[in-house]
Amino acid sequence: MSSLLIRDGVLVDPAAGLERPGHLLVRDGVIAAIDPRGAAADRVVDAAGALVLPGFVDMHVHLREPGFEHKETIATGLLAAVRGGFTAVAPMPNTQPVCDSPQVYKLVLDRAAAVRLAHVHPIAAITTGSRGTELADLARLAALGCRAFSNDGQPVEDAATMLRAMEVVRRLGGVVIDHCEDKTLSRGGAMHAGPEAERWGVTGQSPLAEEVHIARDVLLAEAADCRLHIAHLSTARGLELVRWARRRGVAVTAEAAPHHFCLSTADMPGPDPNYKMNPPLRPPADRDALVGGLAAGDIDVIATDHAPHADAEKARGFQDAPPGVIGLETAVPLIMDRLYHTGRMGIGQIALACAVLPARILGAPARSLQPGAAAHLTLIDPDRPTVIARDGFASRSRNTPFEGWRLRGAVRATIVDGEVRYHIN
Ligand code: DOR
Repeated sequence: MSSLLIRDGVLVDPAAGLERPGHLLVRDGVIAAIDPRGAAADRVVDAAGALVLPGFVDMHVHLREPGFEHKETIATGLLAAVRGGFTAVAPMPNTQPVCDSPQVYKLVLDRAAAVRLAHVHPIAAITTGSRGTELADLARLAALGCRAFSNDGQPVEDAATMLRAMEVVRRLGGVVIDHCEDKTLSRGGAMHAGPEAERWGVTGQSPLAEEVHIARDVLLAEAADCRLHIAHLSTARGLELVRWARRRGVAVTAEAAPHHFCLSTADMPGPDPNYKMNPPLRPPADRDALVGGLAAGDIDVIATDHAPHADAEKARGFQDAPPGVIGLETAVPLIMDRLYHTGRMGIGQIALACAVLPARILGAPARSLQPGAAAHLTLIDPDRPTVIARDGFASRSRNTPFEGWRLRGAVRATIVDGEVRYHIN
């Protein structure tokens, strides 16, 4: 029997309406009591000045293993996760081979279990090889515990195939996670189509590529009565479509990534590949709409789309560099600085968007401080300064647009199954 006492923190549990100073006792990996009477424990974590939150879950990451271990491995990615405050992550299936089979799904789970840092909830491909033609064996994947299916950056183009996939996923009690990009409209555009793209001679990508795909898939989800989760929502009109679908009763949720709600095309210093991601950065009005959507709860989740790429790959120049930025180790300071300290989101709302709702959407164990819940916890120092520094990352890659940013807020500790997996010195 092992026990852990988290002392003198501010306990935050939005599902229980809890937000007050207190102590938390953990026994054998499970929350045992709030404010225990004189409990002795094997280990005490001093949480004075810290917020004690349900464990953060990043439902959109790329761990790159198997196949692209020069960018990231499961071990380096999960170390980045716990250092970033995340108790679980959901990796996308765009590995080599693609996670479209029980073999690859189990390989990811086994390697993650051996690392013993954050939990992993692999997202399996909808179609074999993410090629968009024949459905993967979704039932066998579901039998292994998989509930989330996505073709990620190779979205299913054929609407009839997507409808069939949604009907199957609904029967399996799962969710389709949707990277919305109509490739006939995006046409390989490397950044948002606008004056900057023209000025820098970069091919532009119309926001219609994202919006048309969202419109199609909320209609398909309604027809199939399937849960649909829109990944990395980036435009104001995309958000309008999500709101419209929700008013109709469609079971659609959405996420926004820190780079999309912290940055816009106006922040790009030039065609710097560290500002290249897919979907691309949008104009300031779109960024502001995303912040409004998060504040209103119309965007349910904050997810990083942690997308590591090697320096040499990003050095190919803007047009040819692969899209994506890392996010696991920069998310909490960005969220605290840009959403919490600005008053746009309260800490309970942040706990919902970063812990409670992503766990619920993925079908992962509930994130809660209530006795009986698994002791997955994120401790945050709201006022501790952070300076983003590429040399300090645990991730194998360094591709961030936030280098040198000075932010208010830092992770103090990450606790998984009642074990302190990360703690600042
Ligand atoms: O920016 C992105 N990077 N968007 C994607 O859709 C894929 C991801 C990656 O795998 O690098």
